[in-house]
Formats: sequence, structure tokens, C-alpha cells
Amino acid sequence: MRIKDIVGNTKGLQKYQLKQLAKLYEKRVKREVISSEVARTIASISYDTGRQVGLLVDRRGVITHVIVGDSTRIVIPDLSYFRYYPGRLKGLRCIHTHLGKKGIDEEDITDLLMLRLDAMVVVNVDEGLPGRVEMAYLLPPNPQGKKYDILSWQHPSRVDLNFEEFIFDLEDQIYSTVRQPEDSGYEERAILISVLTPKDWVYGDYYMMELVRLCESANIKVLDTVIQKVKTYNPQFLIGKGKLQEIIIRALYLGATMLVFNEELLPTQLNNIAEMTDLKVIDRTQLILDIFAKRAISMEGKLQVELAQLKYTYPRIIGKGTAMSRLAGGIGGRGPGETKLEMDRRVIKKRIAILEDRIESLKKERAERRKLRERSGIPVISLVGYTNAGKTTLLKAITGSQAYVADKLFATLDPLARTFYLEGVGKCIITDTVGFIRNMPEDIKVAFRATLEELYSADLLLHVIDLSSPFMDDEIEVVDGILEEMGLKDKPIVRVYNKVDLIDEDLARHIVSKGDVVISAKKGIGIDSLLERIARELNPVLDTPL
Ligand code: GTP
Repeated sequence: MRIKDIVGNTKGLQKYQLKQLAKLYEKRVKREVISSEVARTIASISYDTGRQVGLLVDRRGVITHVIVGDSTRIVIPDLSYFRYYPGRLKGLRCIHTHLGKKGIDEEDITDLLMLRLDAMVVVNVDEGLPGRVEMAYLLPPNPQGKKYDILSWQHPSRVDLNFEEFIFDLEDQIYSTVRQPEDSGYEERAILISVLTPKDWVYGDYYMMELVRLCESANIKVLDTVIQKVKTYNPQFLIGKGKLQEIIIRALYLGATMLVFNEELLPTQLNNIAEMTDLKVIDRTQLILDIFAKRAISMEGKLQVELAQLKYTYPRIIGKGTAMSRLAGGIGGRGPGETKLEMDRRVIKKRIAILEDRIESLKKERAERRKLRERSGIPVISLVGYTNAGKTTLLKAITGSQAYVADKLFATLDPLARTFYLEGVGKCIITDTVGFIRNMPEDIKVAFRATLEELYSADLLLHVIDLSSPFMDDEIEVVDGILEEMGLKDKPIVRVYNKVDLIDEDLARHIVSKGDVVISAKKGIGIDSLLERIARELNPVLDTPL
């Protein structure tokens, strides 16, 4: 007997009632929407207890949950662990009683839409007997924009629908609208959402463009973007609940797996949204942290990113913590170390203390290592720049086919530190760094700077700039600002304007100042001049007029 498996408001129920409810777990409801026998049982228990009784039924007809509510509602338990395939329904239908004559109500529809249930079935209870049956189900995308429909029958015995066939048909229709993935290889498929208050209304497109780029860096396929202008943020969901519902349905139609918010979600907002849907939900901060987690360079950088992630996670683990535990391991929940984010608060607190300790001792080691490297005398060139400027492409263009030898001094560093031979100078080391990003939250800034600590040992910085970006000036400013904050402005810096192939070359000449270099890393334009310039910077003896 599975009395312990009955969920919800079971307090005060008689033993025999619990037994009757537990017995429901032995029933199967596969072809029928609901069998007369099951309908009779839940109607009579509902009538006796004055509480709604609900069932969740899977595609095999197995009753997975028996739920007891109060007189007006049942609460569907957390189903986030239950199947989720893009473009598919939940694989569960909910059947529950209503006391009185009221059919499907707004709350039923919300649950249907948000949880993408196969169907929501309501059985009215009439003097202890089952009466009218109503079934709401989602519709495939249609020109009228209608989201659901309702069927109804006088009595359970009148229900003439083969549910098994019905649901497979319906799901096929929905699935056929999901864009077929020419996009395999992506980790997630997302809808991006930006919610703007009046001060940011004019920046909507810019913010969104940048979020799209961040998603690309994080290996997320962007399926759609939503910019919503509001007077003030909704304290519960950031965005209006109705709009959020619309987006979640769109996510179903497009086969999305994730919602990415441009604005930082408060812990309560994150949890509220996560409770409404089984999609992963992350915000810009988590996205950036994920990118850093993948790209952190030094051991210290990795620990710093993990620390920032844990500090971000800590206040967000409330209640069941479903929002965070669902993220564990994937984008938004990836730790740079072996640690996953599905830890409880106590463990997180301990881990934060350990990380802070280790970071402190690594700082000392770093200073030692830098001294060693300085003594080796091999010049170090570091690429810096706004995200997507083309740093990695340039590093490859420079080192090209030259075999790179892992330099011992960099053994603990990122694989993107390469050695190459530079005419007139000799062996050089070139390092890539994580892309700079506008508007970083404080915790991230600390981690971000740590990933850039190696810049202090660079002899020359190449500031790579995307000439084709409509926001080039802002991006230059962000990079300059961070270099300034880090006290790196006194290092020799060369501005390298990249992607000249995307704009008119004459125009490019107008934009840049004397002493700047114009290249296309991708097409190999201007690389030789850049190398000459690097050599001159590193080796003042070679100095010749520009
Ligand atoms: P982050 O890792 O985000 O900091 O980016 P990054 O600066 O390392 O840029 P990356 O080299 O990854 O290049 C970003 C995009 O710009 C890629 O799609 C490149 O193919 C493209 N790209 C880089 N250089 C050029 C160029 O000279 N011309 C054109 N057309 N595209 C380029």
C-alpha cells in the first residue's frame, strides 16, 4: 500500500480514505481520458473529505501521483525531473475533481500551459458522484493564435475519445512546427528576454544584440528574442505573468530548452519563474559566469569564477531550490572545477571559505611565477578586447601553422598561451584572454579581473577592436576603463582594428588614428604589418619610422 506516496493535504484524513487513495496507484488509465471506476473513486473521496483529489497519469496509463488538495485547488508537485524534450508535451495528464458545478478554471489553464501537460481534465462532483467532465488541451500554433481548447462530456461514461491516439496526434502536430535542428552541437536552444524600465528603453536593441552574442559564446542557439518595455519590474516574475505565459508557450512551439533573461533575477523571481515552467531559467549574470567558467585561464581564475558562482547561488537556494538544482551541470550551473552547484547552503558556505583560502595562497604563488617568467626573458604579448572582437582568430592567424611548444612557465595556464617565432625578436609568447563585457556585476568583476591577472606580466597588450560593430566606441571605452581600473594603462598598448573585410577600407582609414593597426584576422589582411609593429614595440632597437 502506497499511503506514503499520497501528496498534498493529507492531514486529518481517515485511514480508510488514505487506503482508498493509495489503491488508485494500482489502476491504469491509458486509452480512456478517465475510467468510470477511477472517476467514481475520486468523486466519492472528494465528496467525503470536502477536498479536491487529483491524479497525474503518464502515457502508459500509470498513475504517478495521487494528490489531495483543499476545497478549491490542488497543488501539482515539482515535476522538473520528469521528461522534457524540446517541442514535446510533458507526457503527463492531470485529472482532478471540482466540488460543485464549476468546470475548467483559470488556474487549470495556467497549469496546463506552463507545465505543458498532455491535458487538464476536471471531473465535477455532484452529490458524491462524478458528473460533467471537461478536458483542456494545448493547440498547435494556429493563425488565430488560440492556445488551448476545451472538450466536455456529460458524464465519464460518455467520454468517447481514445486519449492515447489523441495525444500522439496532437504532439505530432506540435512537433512538426518545431524548427528542425540544423543546429546540432548547441548545448541549449533559448528564447532571450529583456525587460526594460524607461531609462533603458532606447537601448533595447543594443542590449539584446549583446545578449545574443553572449549566448553564442556560451554555445546557446538563439531561437527568438523578446524585448518588453515596462514602467516598473514585476516583483514576482520580473515581467508580467501573462507575458511570461505567452513566452513559455512560444518556447514549446519553437522547441526551446531555456529562457535567458538580460536583467538580473532576484532569488524570489528566479524561483517563481522556475516553478511555473520546466525550462531552464538563467539571467545574464549566470550566462557570463558560465562563459568565464569555460574560459578561466589560471587556477586562480578558475577558483575565482567558482567563488563568484557560489556567491551568486547562495541566496538563490531557497525552498526546494529547484531553480538551481535544475541547472546543475549545464549552462548556468557549470563550475570550473569539479564542484557542481547542487549543494546545499551549508556546504556552499564551507566551500566559499575554502576557496577564499586557496585563492589567497595562489596569489603568492602567482607572484613567484611571474618573477620566474620575467627572468626567462621571453616577451609576452597579450590579446585583450571586447567580447567577439576576434582575439582568438587573431591568435590563430599569428601563430598559424607554427607548431607551438608548451612552455613550462605556462604549464598551469590556459592552452591558449602559444609560443611563436617573431622575425627580429625570436621566441615570443602570445596569450588570449576572456572577452571584456559591459556592465558587469561586482562579484563577476572580481572573478573577471582574476582571469586577467596574467596581463600584469605581459610586455605588450594588443587591444583588438571590432571595426564592424555599431557600438565600437562604447566597446573601446569599456576595455579602456577596465585596463585603467586594473592599473594596466601604462603598459605598451597597440590598438588593432579587426574585421576590416566587413567595412570599406577607406572608411576604416578615416576611423583609426595614426599608430593604430588595421587588419582582418579572418582573411589574413594586415597580419604582416601587425607583426612588424609588434617587433618594433618589443624591440625598440628595430624602431623605424611608421
Ligand atoms: P570572445 O572569446 O568572445 O572574447 O571573442 P574573441 O574576441 O576571441 O573573438 P573570436 O576570435 O572568437 O571571433 C568572433 C567572431 O568574429 C567569429 O565568428 C570570427 O569568425 C569573427 N571574426 C574574427 N575576425 C574576423 C575578421 O577579420 N573578419 C570577419 N568577417 N570576421 C571575423
